[in-house]
Amino acid sequence: MADIDRVGIVGGAGWLGTAIARALLDTRTVPSDRLTCSFRSKKPETALACVWTQDNAQLAENSDIIILSVRPGDWNTIKISAAGKLVVSVMAGVSVEAIKRRTGSSRVARALPNAAAEIGFSYTPFFVESSNSEDANTIAALFGCCGAVDQVDSENHIDYFTGMTGSGAAFPALLADAMMKDALARGLPEDLARRAAQQVLIGAGRLQEHNGLSPSETVRSFVDYKGTTAAAIVAMQENGFYDTVAAGLQAAIQKARALQETNSYGNENEVE
Ligand SMILES: NC(=O)c1ccc[n+]([C@@H]2O[C@H](COP(=O)([O-])OP(=O)(O)OC[C@H]3O[C@@H](n4cnc5c(N)ncnc54)[C@H](OP(=O)(O)O)[C@@H]3O)[C@@H](O)[C@H]2O)c1
Repeated sequence: MADIDRVGIVGGAGWLGTAIARALLDTRTVPSDRLTCSFRSKKPETALACVWTQDNAQLAENSDIIILSVRPGDWNTIKISAAGKLVVSVMAGVSVEAIKRRTGSSRVARALPNAAAEIGFSYTPFFVESSNSEDANTIAALFGCCGAVDQVDSENHIDYFTGMTGSGAAFPALLADAMMKDALARGLPEDLARRAAQQVLIGAGRLQEHNGLSPSETVRSFVDYKGTTAAAIVAMQENGFYDTVAAGLQAAIQKARALQETNSYGNENEVE
């Protein structure tokens, strides 16, 4: 495993920043005195046992690896000088080029965890531009604390994954919600419909993990069984299920690209 140096998380008081910080501490990947988190308005009341600061310049000084975890809309307010340091952004829609310009670093990565990072079940693809051959291993070790990690060789893949996996848990939840609404429309009691939809969601994930099949193979095995599940799958497919999912992912890509356009023209002179 790569040696992790001092880590700083800009926006460490936020939802994702805290999830990453907690995973780094819980897995002892980074000792508490080598992890600095910054906050803007308020240090969390149940703050993790690490170094806290409201000063991002101090965070940058204290860190060899800087994780940027503020909302894309706040990105243009971040002023850090990180020349020579590894900078890893988890922000949706902020390009490597924009991060290089603003931070002065030439070792820049984009990683995209999802909501399951909080429980160690994220899928985190990352893209890195760096002449330091150790940086990819370092990033894999950092985000390995929060779940599964894959390096991708094109920044475009990160924009795609912003919609597909960054939105992560939302889509199976959407399917379960649709099933629950159908059950309610057919007169089932709400608590029963809720419990049923919830357990289908959890059971499907566990089964998928257990059987080791790809999602396509799982679908195929149900279709081949030619029972009620096959009837439902075929009807959903004929009613545009795949097209609907593709349209949703396309909308997410467009949103990620629009964010990128908005966030790529920060004023380089603001870098301190
Ligand atoms: N949530 C997800 O599942 C997810 C998944 C993939 C990627 N992301 C990306 O992760 C980033 C963070 O998302 P989030 O859900 O964690 O948002 P969040 O809960 O709103 O956290 C952002 C944090 O950044 C703080 N902040 C803003 N400007 C700051 C500054 N100058 N210095 C220090 N802290 C500052 C905010 O402080 P205040 O309290 O003052 O606002 C807030 O605590 C976003 O760019 C998002 O695109 C999120």
